[in-house]
Amino acid sequence: MNTLAVVGSQWGDEGKGKIVDLLAADADVVVRFQGGNNAAHTLVVNGEKFILRLVPAGALHQSKTCVIGNGTVVDPIALLAEIDGLKRRGHLRDNSLLKLSNDAHMVMPYHRAIDRAREDLLGKSAIGTTGFGIGPAYEDKMARVGLRFDDLTDFNSFREKLERNIRDKNAYLKTILKAKPVAGAEIVEQMRAARGRLRRYLCDTSAFLQQAIAGGKRVLFEGAHGVMLDIDHGTYPFVTSSNCSASAVFSGAGIAPGSLDGVLGISKAYTTRVGSGPFPTEISGRLADAMREEGSEFGSATGRPRRIGWFDGVLTRHAIRLNGMWGIALTKLDVLTGIDPVKICVGYQLRGKRIDQLPPSRQMLGKVRPVYESLPGWQERIDHARSLQDLPVNARRYLERLQEFCGVRLAMVGVGASREATIILEHPFLALKSTPARRLSGSRSGKVIGPPTA
Ligand code: IMP
Repeated sequence: MNTLAVVGSQWGDEGKGKIVDLLAADADVVVRFQGGNNAAHTLVVNGEKFILRLVPAGALHQSKTCVIGNGTVVDPIALLAEIDGLKRRGHLRDNSLLKLSNDAHMVMPYHRAIDRAREDLLGKSAIGTTGFGIGPAYEDKMARVGLRFDDLTDFNSFREKLERNIRDKNAYLKTILKAKPVAGAEIVEQMRAARGRLRRYLCDTSAFLQQAIAGGKRVLFEGAHGVMLDIDHGTYPFVTSSNCSASAVFSGAGIAPGSLDGVLGISKAYTTRVGSGPFPTEISGRLADAMREEGSEFGSATGRPRRIGWFDGVLTRHAIRLNGMWGIALTKLDVLTGIDPVKICVGYQLRGKRIDQLPPSRQMLGKVRPVYESLPGWQERIDHARSLQDLPVNARRYLERLQEFCGVRLAMVGVGASREATIILEHPFLALKSTPARRLSGSRSGKVIGPPTA
């Protein structure tokens, strides 16, 4: 494959950053196509921890081009702070290697103010957003009043639009949301300063990517969040305001349908979620606390403790089908070490009936009871494992059952935080183009990673 999308199969925080970073080593271009700095990809490289929010993970490799596509919403001040932080640590030295779409929309301070004020008003019914203004920025895009980076070309006209927006938003903040207005003059001056620094990165990223693909470059599309946070296919309204599934690559990066060779889903070996909303396999108590500590399950963007649960096979199958996933990279298997038994959700009970897929109405997801299969755990540390044979037999059994149930090949298994702590069973860039998941049978290591039985 030459063009690959990586998407989260759960509610975000699946460990996409590490896998994207690993794949970026073999890519020429790495692209963000949706979301904003509500995403936070944590990477550990040579023992150093990085948190990337807007800049694609390719930035940690020399000479990879990083693209922030038109489908994203970008807080210009946050982006500049991230660029500065990366430059201070020796990355992103060559400005020509970062490309920001002219057509991407800007997140403004009034978006953040609205996001937070609404959440405050909602109280117990709050969505639990990151508070970074993502929803209100996408609203403005759809309402055709958003500001795009392209608008910076003519600052006078940009200022007019900005001032009009500030007037409207301040009226809304004061009158409806009973919140403090934002300081208009300050925002205009901030943007004037930011403009000088941002213009060097602006480009027609759609044309750039089409050319890169036509020229046979390897292009990696880095999804943010996860399928269950997708505005259409997730647990609405407890979702983010963009499409986080692979279909968003085409509109969010400006490439033609058909130019994507495959999709790799990222799933954690268990499940987490931040924010509110249904979560069938959620657990609480000492085991959840221990898993949260062991897996450092605190939001990278907000520091909030993540909710913890068992691996949900029903939900993962939904994500696989929706995205036509070629395979799955399973992350954080090491966090399950020492837990006995380990559980996989293989169905739901809804009003006394067993169901094998998501209920037709996502609202009902809050009413289902998970049906579990329990498997024996393992006690041995596994962070040194680089092949399946290095794993304890019960860890292998867990993987086999999980991928048999999900009916998709397991391409990678994460056994620790660092780039190296990964078992690579089949490298997507070395795989055939667009092989349907259901026809797959083997892995590069020679171990047959169970063809689907269903
Ligand atoms: P928003 O994207 O800030 O509007 O937040 C909407 C919902 O998506 C909230 O439940 C957030 O916690 C969740 N969310 C947004 N981005 C991420 C992410 O990258 N990982 C996990 N949850 C996220």
